[in-house]
Amino acid sequence: MTQPPIDLRSDTVTKPTPGMIQAMLAAQLGDDVYAEDPTVNQFEEHVADLLGHEAALFVPTGVMSNQLCLKVLTNPGDEVIVGQRSHIFNYETGAPALLSGIQLHTLPDEQGWMEFTQIEEAIREEAYYLPRTAVIAVEQTHNRAGGSVIPMEYLQNVVELGRRKGIGLHLDGARLWNACVATGISPREYASQFDTVSVCFSKGLGAPVGSVMASSKERVVLARKFRKVWGGGWRQAGILAACGLFGLQHQMQRLEEDHQKATRFAEILSGSPMIQIPRFPETNIVVFKTVGFDLLRLAELVKVEGIWLSTAFKGLLRAVFHMDVTLEQTTTAAQKIVATLKKFQA
Ligand SMILES: Cc1ncc(COP(=O)(O)O)c(C=O)c1O
Repeated sequence: MTQPPIDLRSDTVTKPTPGMIQAMLAAQLGDDVYAEDPTVNQFEEHVADLLGHEAALFVPTGVMSNQLCLKVLTNPGDEVIVGQRSHIFNYETGAPALLSGIQLHTLPDEQGWMEFTQIEEAIREEAYYLPRTAVIAVEQTHNRAGGSVIPMEYLQNVVELGRRKGIGLHLDGARLWNACVATGISPREYASQFDTVSVCFSKGLGAPVGSVMASSKERVVLARKFRKVWGGGWRQAGILAACGLFGLQHQMQRLEEDHQKATRFAEILSGSPMIQIPRFPETNIVVFKTVGFDLLRLAELVKVEGIWLSTAFKGLLRAVFHMDVTLEQTTTAAQKIVATLKKFQA
């Protein structure tokens, strides 16, 4: 019998666990466009409280959530300071320009965070002929930088700078949960200092669908309007909110296991002279390069062996660890990658 693939492309590939499916079946439902779905309402209140914000809005995806946050913090013609490797800049299909009429001012963020002094320099002076710097956006954990955890002190400095200059602050916390489990810092400590926050439930927490944006009551009212404008007004969404609640209650602490798998994977890979890992994993993502061997060829060769890697980052391969891959499969995958390189080097 052929083995199922070891799918390391993303932590979004997981299927709902039996407990999560039970939670879906038991969910009380109503029409969320009328704000009558009790499970959605409970979920939004719970997440708002968890993140230390007044209100929250449940939406289908992290992209919609990020984009709603930018929408409510900006006016057309404004500018957002964001990392060159951020999800918002690279993987949201130009949505800031398309949906909000804003431009992005990108800065290097090799480790996952922009240099503080470069942010200071990038903030525009006030002049009628310049764009207004409306938002500074950061990503926690940082996907393309290998799941790096942005240090709290840095975040506090950025927040303090934003406050001093009257600039909005957005946190793309798609994997905030991983940062919390890695550091022991609470979601509230990270998130409450920002004006808007986006968190995802369809990644390490294992829900099939769903993200939440959190902010002030006023901004969430506005975001609700734009969610509808963008076609995201949904009905008995409690069936999905139940998954988010279940993920938070029962599948959060286990993220630690994903971090251990990433560490094991990176340790095995670093035994090969043909692999370079720019940043040792702190959470559930490992990004790596090949030395003297074509990156995409390696991905193709190991795919034949049943190991699926992500090639979405130019010049890097990515492996993401999640609940549907075991420690044993992790070890097998890493060993096969190392062995494949060795075989083709000879
Ligand atoms: C950092 C980050 N932000 C936002 C998103 C968008 O989430 P979604 O795929 O739910 O739109 C992702 C998705 O991987 C992500 O990694």
